[in-house]
Amino acid sequence: MAWAVIGTWRMSREGCAKASEILKNNGDAADAAVAGVCDVEDNPSFHSVGYTGLPDKEGRVKLDGGFMDGNTLHFGAVGSIEGFRSPVRIARSLADREFNNFLVGAGAEAYAQSQSFERRDNLTPEIYQKYLEKKNAVKKLSSYSGHDTVCFLALDHSGRLCAATSTSGLFLKDPGRVGDTPLAGAGFYADSLIGAAAATGVGEDIMKGALSHEVYCRLKAGMSAMEAASSAVYELSETLKKRSGACRSISLICLDSRGRYGVGTNTSFPFVYAAWNEPLETWIAEPDGNAVRIHLPGPEDLNLD
Ligand code: GLY
Repeated sequence: MAWAVIGTWRMSREGCAKASEILKNNGDAADAAVAGVCDVEDNPSFHSVGYTGLPDKEGRVKLDGGFMDGNTLHFGAVGSIEGFRSPVRIARSLADREFNNFLVGAGAEAYAQSQSFERRDNLTPEIYQKYLEKKNAVKKLSSYSGHDTVCFLALDHSGRLCAATSTSGLFLKDPGRVGDTPLAGAGFYADSLIGAAAATGVGEDIMKGALSHEVYCRLKAGMSAMEAASSAVYELSETLKKRSGACRSISLICLDSRGRYGVGTNTSFPFVYAAWNEPLETWIAEPDGNAVRIHLPGPEDLNLD
């Protein structure tokens, strides 16, 4: 039976290898997607997610995470949570509840505390120093240069598709700001019968297109994964440019119900994919008119995490 996993940015490579092992051994898509995201949350080399994530305007690391089970359509999410190791694990546990699936700030922290989720101070002295150097110099918010939200989509042997996401959001964001990453429909969506999608880039623009759900609708209408992802990102970028003069960086990954991948992007975007019939590989997606060109990384792509 087929299995597949895809992750955003080069930083997802180790996590993709872990997720592949789980799926190869008949493991579950939820475990695989969450394991992939956790690997990045714990890695101090990546400053857009989890430990060493970039702080908000007040110098505090507030994290967002989301999870969706494509069998039940249950989702869980946390926004602006501080002092815990893994937003994605907390998000996954919220998906089991009937109500109160999306918690933010103090409410999310109280829930995580009540469930004994591991605490961690994600702000390191080096990151606080970076914050002090940049806090008055940065005039315009942007996603962290080179990479941003980590998203994993996994399909397991039983045909279950799951989506998992995690980010520290925009560097120097306003306290309380929450982007697309924990927002079902915008930052992620999964339906095992149709496909799954997840987005990375500037949340304010991704939310304007409810982008992950838009890709799901295109898959449902019969488009291939590649067509669905690339057309949705292209059309949203063009619409925002026409209506408001600009569209910031946005990228999206998707998997259809048979594990075939699609990517849409308006910038150079690395991703990692592995499947029962394809070895794990890092690829670069480039916008090419209304389509996307995929190639192996070259020397010019070394700065992309
Ligand atoms: N895509 C992450 C954010 O905008 O917060």
